[in-house]
Amino acid sequence: MSELIFVKLGGSVITDKTRAETARRDMIAKLARQIASALAERAELRLILGHGSGSFGHMVARRFRTREGVHGADAWRGFAEVATVAARLNRIVMDLLENAGLPAWSLQPSASAFCEGGVLKSIELAPVIQALEHGLVPVLYGDVALDACQGGTILSTEQIFAYLAHRLCPDRVILVGTVDGVFDADPLSEPAARRIDEISAENWASVRALLGGSHGTDVTGGMLAKVEEMIGLARQMPGLEIQLISGEPVDALKIALLKSSDSQHGTTIRWAPRLPGGGM
Ligand code: IPE
Repeated sequence: MSELIFVKLGGSVITDKTRAETARRDMIAKLARQIASALAERAELRLILGHGSGSFGHMVARRFRTREGVHGADAWRGFAEVATVAARLNRIVMDLLENAGLPAWSLQPSASAFCEGGVLKSIELAPVIQALEHGLVPVLYGDVALDACQGGTILSTEQIFAYLAHRLCPDRVILVGTVDGVFDADPLSEPAARRIDEISAENWASVRALLGGSHGTDVTGGMLAKVEEMIGLARQMPGLEIQLISGEPVDALKIALLKSSDSQHGTTIRWAPRLPGGGM
């Protein structure tokens, strides 16, 4: 059976989160080349790509408080504007994926997503499944979504991945950011911070107590919210392996995709205990 992997290119790594609508094109191109090269080595890999919104969607979403609900003409105009800037970043990503030779196909989440109180209840699955069947790499991204309780909301890539994971059962999820996993203190301000290599049922309570917010403007809750979302997923799907890595080191994403190096990158979240000998 070919492996199915969900890969998120986080907004922190593909944009400069402190400067409005600033894409890190070189970084996106570098990550795209690593994905293409991993697929060239293992053609049987099936990938679903997602990407965050960074300084594109988050800044506009914060201005209009879109995540808290959409009421009135101004707020709806803001909702549409968030969708426009999120799609603008997606266009940049798609062009660079194409330049790298990837058969990537963009699927706009807000065209079919419905939420209730910020919880994703449905999103069209058929295009994602058929894309995989035809050897394409479907690409989704953080976007706005209609919401039955609050008019509209913001939908993160992690929420989309969690929804898809329950239906498509991926083997692995790789989240690419600027920090090499989860640390016991903020590695940017605390040089002695140490990486937590694995998070599981055994250590989650103590790890949770250590996590704080993320840098820059982030309307979807920073590191703690993202890790919690992934813990929830790992708990419900005990076979699933979720890796948080930095996109900065040379070939980090390619190595993670191919599991081609013994040297551990990032943090792995895995709920079921690993059996002796490395199996599940
Ligand atoms: C956020 O999506 C979507 C918008 C603000 C429009 P994500 O939560 O997936 O994005 P990042 O990775 O935090 O930028």
